[in-house]
Amino acid sequence: MLSKKISNITPSYTIGISTKITELKKQGIDIINLSIGEPDFFTPKKAKEEGIKAIHDNKTKYDAASGLKNLKKVIQEKLEMENNISYDLDEIVISSGAKHAITNTLIAFLDPGDEVIIPKPYWVSYSEMVKLLDGVPIFVDTDRQNDFKITASDLEKTISPKTKLLFITNPSNPTGAVYQKKELMSIVDICYENNVHIIADEIYEKICYTNNFVSIASLSEKAKEITITINGLSKSAAMTGWRIGYSACKKEIATAIATIQGHLVSHPSTISQWAAYGALTLCKNEMEEMVKIYKNRRDKVILELSKVSNLSFIKPQGAFYIFIDISKLKNKIQYKNSFSIEFSNKLLDKYKVAVVPGIAFGMDDYIRISYACNINDVIEGINRLNKFIEDLNS
Ligand SMILES: Cc1ncc(COP(=O)(O)O)c(C=O)c1O
Repeated sequence: MLSKKISNITPSYTIGISTKITELKKQGIDIINLSIGEPDFFTPKKAKEEGIKAIHDNKTKYDAASGLKNLKKVIQEKLEMENNISYDLDEIVISSGAKHAITNTLIAFLDPGDEVIIPKPYWVSYSEMVKLLDGVPIFVDTDRQNDFKITASDLEKTISPKTKLLFITNPSNPTGAVYQKKELMSIVDICYENNVHIIADEIYEKICYTNNFVSIASLSEKAKEITITINGLSKSAAMTGWRIGYSACKKEIATAIATIQGHLVSHPSTISQWAAYGALTLCKNEMEEMVKIYKNRRDKVILELSKVSNLSFIKPQGAFYIFIDISKLKNKIQYKNSFSIEFSNKLLDKYKVAVVPGIAFGMDDYIRISYACNINDVIEGINRLNKFIEDLNS
């Protein structure tokens, strides 16, 4: 009954874990949840008010497929002022989350058998989205010494005549690594020479603790020509449930994206788009405040984690995750298919701490924890992780 390709799709690990945690919590079990992929903050008040106002003002009819003009204008200004990239309004499309903006882009590019390069570790949904659209994900190993960032030489070895796209997640989920300008420039050169377009997933742009974040499309005219910039409000303005993201790219691609979107969903909810307008125009301070809090937590968490034996990690420069190497414990646990799933299940079942197994990101020797939650919970979670490791070693 169902298509062959659906049997080849893995359900989202992160959503699966959330469902399990909700079940356990319903049973009254106290779980420290470090698997969370969304801000623990509420949407800023003025953004919510703008959404409520849209309802009262009856801004609830169909609108343009590519998104509300007012919101596109503030996104255009943001890209110009903050990222130094000039896009025309018809080069910006607002979608239902960054996820949807990425899906639209993949539909616009992929014919069956086209290849998409995905550096490891990767965000869970990329490979499944590519497969759903009959593309072929090509995974590339990256070097831990280079904070798991893909290099121009890795790329050169991987590009084939079938390569259409490359994913760059900057800052990265799950590692928090941030690319330097010169690294991105050499990636752009290789992609341009080989006619490969870059999906620049910059959803964590604002949650960045260094001042060296560079938006790929801002690097040069060449970079802008081959880059589809993806961003949104989910992480930066704590608006995950509102589902607003966007893509910005050259007109030919943007027109294709708007056409696809028009047929599939018409456009994202107008109410959410007005709330996003409120966030971008009125909530800068609240957004900056959240980043300060994340940074503070990041510093505390890495201090605590560094006291735990047998673990190692790279210091995240952005996002709100830490990708932890647990390979030293591999011989302490019996597992069938996946070490990181077995490790995470034991941690959840016995010590009541939820984390995401690294296999979800293509690397089975790791787990990912999130600090998008109360700092005391994270510290308690790390204490329990420490106890688990002590017990394994005893
Ligand atoms: C790297 C990355 N890209 C995209 C998304 C999706 O964001 P949105 O909620 O805007 O669809 C996420 C969400 O976790 C993410 O981590």
